[in-house]
Amino acid sequence: MCGIVAYIGDKEAYPILINGLKRLEYRGYDSSGIAVLNGMEKITIHKKKGKVSKLEEAINGTKISGSVGIGHTRWATHGPANDVNAHPHYSESGKIAVIHNGIIENYISLKRELLEDGYTFKSDTDTEVIVQLIEQIKLKANVELEEAVRIALGKVVGAYAIVVISEDEPDKLIAAKMSSPMVIGYGENEFFVGSDGAPIVEHTRKVSYLEDGQMVVLNKDGSYYFKYIKENTNFIPFVDELTYKLEELEKGGFEHFMLKEIYEQPRAIRDSIRGRISSSEQFARLGGIYEYENAFVNADRLIFIACGTSWHSALVAEYLIEDLARIPVEVEYASEFRYRNPIITEKDIVIAISQSGETADTKAALELAKSKGAMTYGICNVVGSAISRMSDAGSYTHAGTEIGVASTKAFTTQLAVLSIMAIELAKRKGRLSVNRFQSLLTELDQLPEKVEIALKCNSITKVIADIFQDANNFLYLGRGYNFPIALEGALKLKEISYIHAEGYPAAEMKHGPIALIDENMPVLVIAPKRGHYDKVISNMEEIKARKGKIIAVVTEGDEEISRLADFVIPIPDTEECFTPILATIPLQLLAYHIAVMRNCNVDQPRNLAKSVTVE
Ligand code: AGP
Repeated sequence: MCGIVAYIGDKEAYPILINGLKRLEYRGYDSSGIAVLNGMEKITIHKKKGKVSKLEEAINGTKISGSVGIGHTRWATHGPANDVNAHPHYSESGKIAVIHNGIIENYISLKRELLEDGYTFKSDTDTEVIVQLIEQIKLKANVELEEAVRIALGKVVGAYAIVVISEDEPDKLIAAKMSSPMVIGYGENEFFVGSDGAPIVEHTRKVSYLEDGQMVVLNKDGSYYFKYIKENTNFIPFVDELTYKLEELEKGGFEHFMLKEIYEQPRAIRDSIRGRISSSEQFARLGGIYEYENAFVNADRLIFIACGTSWHSALVAEYLIEDLARIPVEVEYASEFRYRNPIITEKDIVIAISQSGETADTKAALELAKSKGAMTYGICNVVGSAISRMSDAGSYTHAGTEIGVASTKAFTTQLAVLSIMAIELAKRKGRLSVNRFQSLLTELDQLPEKVEIALKCNSITKVIADIFQDANNFLYLGRGYNFPIALEGALKLKEISYIHAEGYPAAEMKHGPIALIDENMPVLVIAPKRGHYDKVISNMEEIKARKGKIIAVVTEGDEEISRLADFVIPIPDTEECFTPILATIPLQLLAYHIAVMRNCNVDQPRNLAKSVTVE
């Protein structure tokens, strides 16, 4: 997704902007740019296709002075990645510059009107339409920049987080938001703006989150005011504290953020269960559930909505909650749910799972659920994110900042929180004996240590990665609780190594996919000695009979399976319902090592973004 950073204050803006863009690189992008204002002088703009380092090379020591500026990393939506389409975009006169994260749905009609009014366009972007529209309104209505921005946004349909500067009002910076995230940071007589906390946290932790339909005017003299765009009325914002830790934005000695985050999982899971379970004191409690106990216990069904890896977590939740708590669960792709006119009643609880808390489809699906009277619950990792703020209740995963585009620690902490949810609901519905309740809590409490053990398979996965790094296809198979993990393992491989991979329920093989099996098809089978172990063995026999190459994730000590598998990756034994958390670890490492061996950009895979805030 696009990244935004802006500054207004007494310091030189350029170093703050360029460093802020580097902090935003993790979001995934294809070009970047900056614009700096130095008093009444002309706006200086530099923008370049490629990485921020390319932008720096293009600037190549040119003196850029000015204490008001905007910076942007672009993830192309309208128009290819090139220098012209990179942001900032500027108006016909060159006096106004804008950066934008989002999509303007009605940009074509707006562009047509501007063209008819004699405006010309240099780029293919929807963003250029905004800046031209602002200038047109400013000139025609003879209004100040703030009012021109406000009126222009009243004509715009779609998602935006924009920041605007103008030569005519060089001591002002205006930011506005609809759907795409925006954070305002308060410094000493200076302000910072970011699409998230990453470019801000080293300067200040004191922030306000712009909500949809809001804008802020930041002045160089340190004054500011927030206002509602439509109503044109001012308001006092809530001031929050950023929870980012700067060291989380560093690699900490690892070659990639993804590997660092894979190894952070024991700590992240420990942080996500801490204070929420106790086997000795016999409790499992998520604050949000506790607060809405009756709604959950009496719910007709729980509907999970999510995308990507978070959707895989939701699939595991279905097994967990129906198995333990006996509450009907449905799992929906948020992108489908929002458009298919689903039946939702007040007796439903709609639970959104989202690491970023900003995924456009998941937000829209949640809004639909709210409009139909369902109670909403959010499971997010980013504190203060839109989904966490719009839900009636929720639980944060405490994975810490996840920089790698491929989700790892966020996924396993989602599973940990969902495990607590299932156990708590089962207990509240009287579905668990005291002994069973206690044994589940004891095992869950030991999981961080078992993840630590599972990480020891790193060297084995590296050997296997070396053998299969040139595979063109991969199959991932799992049963029961581990069917979603087969999907997740396939997604990890796809998204960072660009190898085509598919996940299937193991039993599904005989209904078609087994036709794919031959000596060139690597098949990863998740086969812990729990659940439908014997059935998985049968599936492996079927694959072996057709010369498929089998990589098996097994319970440590399982000698029987070695007879069938070409490669074996051991994980510690645990309750069947917790095997997904452990089985995921080797799949993350396998995908990581294959991607590194293929010289892929592991942390910022091509075409991908960390948070898909556009539809
Ligand atoms: C997972 O590795 C991907 N980065 C992607 O599928 C991601 O899970 C999806 O975009 C949902 O993101 P969210 O959890 O922030 O909503």
